[in-house]
Amino acid sequence: MLSAQSKQQIDREIAKYPADQKQSAVMSALRIAQEEHGWLSQPVMNSVAEYLGMPAIAVYEVATFYEMYNLKPMGRHKITLCTNLPCALSGATRVCEHLKAQLGIGFNEVTADGEFSLKEGQCFGACGDAPVLLVNNHHMHSFMDEEKVDALLKELKS
Ligand code: FES
Repeated sequence: MLSAQSKQQIDREIAKYPADQKQSAVMSALRIAQEEHGWLSQPVMNSVAEYLGMPAIAVYEVATFYEMYNLKPMGRHKITLCTNLPCALSGATRVCEHLKAQLGIGFNEVTADGEFSLKEGQCFGACGDAPVLLVNNHHMHSFMDEEKVDALLKELKS
C-alpha cells in the first residue's frame, strides 16, 4: 500500500531517530501515507505499522488522536476551523455558521462535487490571530470573518 517513493520518504524520517526507535517516525509516516492516498484507510495504516515494526493498534491510536489525519476520504480542499475558546470568543462561531451555509455541509462532510470538506480543529497555537482556519493542514488563514471566508472560497474554487 506504500509506494517506493513514500517508503523512501519514511526512511528519511526514520533516520532521524535511534536505530531501535523506528516507531518514533509514526506521525511523519502517517502524513506521508496520507499524502499518497488522500486518507488513512485501515489497510494503509496497517502498512505503516508493518513498515515501522509496530502494532497496528498503536498506529490507529495516533491516527485517531490528531485531527490532521483523515480517517475517511476528504474533499480536494479540507478546511479545518479552530473552534476552541479564544477563537470562539473572536468570532469562530459566526465563521463556522457562514462556512457551513456557504458550503452546504457540516463538520466531517464533503461537498457533493468533492471540492470541499469541513473539519473542526483544536487550538493551532495561533490564538493571537483568532479566529483561524487551516487549508489542507498547511495553509493558515488568520483573523477570519465572513468576508474573508467568501474570498477564500472564491480563490480555492478558481
Ligand atoms: S484557540 Fe484557536 S488557535 Fe488557539
